[in-house]
Amino acid sequence: MKLSTNHLLGIKDLTPQDIRLILDTAQQFKEVLQRPVKKVPSLRDVTVVNLFFENSTRTRISFELAEKRLSADVLNFTSSASSVSKGETMLDTVNNILSMKVDMVVLRHSASGAPHFLAKHISAAIINAGDGINEHPTQALLDALSMEEALGGSLNGKKIAIIGDIMHSRVALSNIYLLTKLGAEVTVAGPPTLIPKYISEAFGVKVSYNIKETLQWCDIANVLRIQLERQNQPLFSSLREYNLAYGISRKLLESLGKKVVIMHPGPINRGVELDSDVADGHESIILQQVENGVAVRMAVLYLLANRES
Ligand code: NCD
Repeated sequence: MKLSTNHLLGIKDLTPQDIRLILDTAQQFKEVLQRPVKKVPSLRDVTVVNLFFENSTRTRISFELAEKRLSADVLNFTSSASSVSKGETMLDTVNNILSMKVDMVVLRHSASGAPHFLAKHISAAIINAGDGINEHPTQALLDALSMEEALGGSLNGKKIAIIGDIMHSRVALSNIYLLTKLGAEVTVAGPPTLIPKYISEAFGVKVSYNIKETLQWCDIANVLRIQLERQNQPLFSSLREYNLAYGISRKLLESLGKKVVIMHPGPINRGVELDSDVADGHESIILQQVENGVAVRMAVLYLLANRES
């Protein structure tokens, strides 16, 4: 089976079959990663450049590790150490790199739509590693794999809450596309100022401003970071008050009388959206998410490279 697309620009463009293929392939790579020899030759002679125009820890390392486990040749680019600071455009930067015979581009950029723009102008396969407040498809895929593992099977009919700064989160949008395509029920929850007004009509999700009710309803809570760097003006009174009204504490979890799986894409603002004893608690699968990230990215790289051949 092959993907229906040459690039991974967003979950929006994937069919449910594409998503299934990526998750099943990732599961196979997860098995490979348990072996003493974790490296496979699948991407030998394929050159991948990781173009990061915006800060990243997990995603950049995860992609690099996935590429190396697949035996690809890997180049790393960070805009702060490049000619971008001398005024070079993104397209010029990329075309210069591609003229050195690079096959695949992993792009993170603060502008929404940057990978879609690039896809119109270059022939290499592009993987979106996060574009502004638009999408972060590999995060949603690794979230889905982690959710399936936590619930022991299909997400069809499962109740998933996405909690926090929905407005500025590319993880939220990619999760919403993916979860609804796989038939899950989705509720977004947080302060009214951090939830887009017509999200319910546009995406078929429920909206709640009450965290306790949302936790009582859901099987899994995917909790998101407050993206202060994307807020031009304050959208709530203070981090302390955010934590009191919308943060998840041990006391709150214990008052539910049921188990809720806790997820977070990282980086966590400890004591804001999640208290430390919840982030590190037995309900949390945050580090499994990071582990699954490598297998999911291996699957995406492998499937896109395979389409070309
Ligand atoms: C997310 C991102 O960069 O969009 N982090 C990540 O990739 N693990 C979420 C965030 O920054 O809050």
